[in-house]
Amino acid sequence: MSKFYNVQPETLKTISAAILNKNGIPERESKVVAASLVDADLKGVSSHGVLRLAIYLKRLGNKVIHPNPEFEVIKETNSTVVLDGGNGLGQVVSQYAVDLLKVKAQQSPISAVTVRNSNHFGAAAYWAAQLTDNDMIGIVMSNVEPLMPPPGGASAKIGNNPISFAVPAGDHYPIVLDMATSSVPLGKILNAKSKGESIPEGWGLNHLGQSTTDPDEVVNGGSLFPVGGPKGYGLAVMVDVLTALLSNGAFSDQIHSMYNDLDKPNSISHFFMAIRIDAFSDPSFFKQIVDQYITSIKSTPLAQGANAIFMPGEIEFLNKEKNEQNGIQLPESVVKELVQLAEQAGVDVSELTGTTAVQNN
Ligand SMILES: NC(=O)c1ccc[n+]([C@@H]2O[C@H](COP(=O)([O-])OP(=O)(O)OC[C@H]3O[C@@H](n4cnc5c(N)ncnc54)[C@H](O)[C@@H]3O)[C@@H](O)[C@H]2O)c1
Repeated sequence: MSKFYNVQPETLKTISAAILNKNGIPERESKVVAASLVDADLKGVSSHGVLRLAIYLKRLGNKVIHPNPEFEVIKETNSTVVLDGGNGLGQVVSQYAVDLLKVKAQQSPISAVTVRNSNHFGAAAYWAAQLTDNDMIGIVMSNVEPLMPPPGGASAKIGNNPISFAVPAGDHYPIVLDMATSSVPLGKILNAKSKGESIPEGWGLNHLGQSTTDPDEVVNGGSLFPVGGPKGYGLAVMVDVLTALLSNGAFSDQIHSMYNDLDKPNSISHFFMAIRIDAFSDPSFFKQIVDQYITSIKSTPLAQGANAIFMPGEIEFLNKEKNEQNGIQLPESVVKELVQLAEQAGVDVSELTGTTAVQNN
């Protein structure tokens, strides 16, 4: 039986931001990072939630993440910018890039920002979805350290580079695809390993590049299976092109591991694009059409045993709505780690330890 704590999102945001701030991140930027992590927890994407704080702080402490970098504009046009993230936290430069896109979009119906020399930016959807508020379609990608082999390869050479597309709707939730390009994230393999369970075929490969059902073989020198085989691999390649090759950033094994290379900068690159809907269609009309589209998709007769049809991102929005009302269920291990980080930073955690209900699931 696992123990969970019920934590209010605002409490989690306040404590996470205070911990970051005490570790040298300016107040405003601390809030940006905390908001992105807590949004992932709210949406049930806990692999990209506050459990990442510990590794961010470790890397800040090791001085392989800069707490307050200047972002350098490497190249700029009316509709595009190439930024150097100065090796700061990925979320901080990502928020800067999204805000910059909104400015660029006033001059140009399609605008894009590439970022090099950054770090982990959390869930890609958090950035893409911000653009839907301004009647834009957002497209966001990031490259990552090598986790997958090219087809025919025996070892990891390319990241499970995430991709997100976000489209505004009228009465419905925005359509938000947010996916890694591996068939499952590493977290699921680690989870099976910790429970002593085998994994299905198609999740991971051993050190010889052969499919394996043993999670130990994946973790020890193996790699992740690209989603859809060569198609996921191809998408991951294109993410590297748009993020790193366009920004002259690091790619493939030039990117260091966030968890294993604790003394080297990560050197991640990102890509952000905004498409202004009014350049193609009246935004209100477009959103009505998106609603019609969603209604049509959701009217598909249900397969035997299925309960509902969801649009991309819908499950995460439903989770968010529920968790905003009821609080976020955080595993005891994550709460303990947060309390430890807070105590080390001299941040008051009484709201976390004192007033929250402990539950058994
Ligand atoms: N920053 C990084 O380095 C990095 C790297 C990899 C992944 N990630 C993040 O990890 C997160 C998880 O990625 P993932 O690939 O495991 O996501 P996932 O497999 O849980 O979901 C992928 C997509 O499928 C949709 N989906 C899932 N079930 C559905 C259903 N039944 N019906 C309709 N749509 C459905 C989701 O809404 C989502 O858009 C993402 O936020 C991604 O950005 C980040």
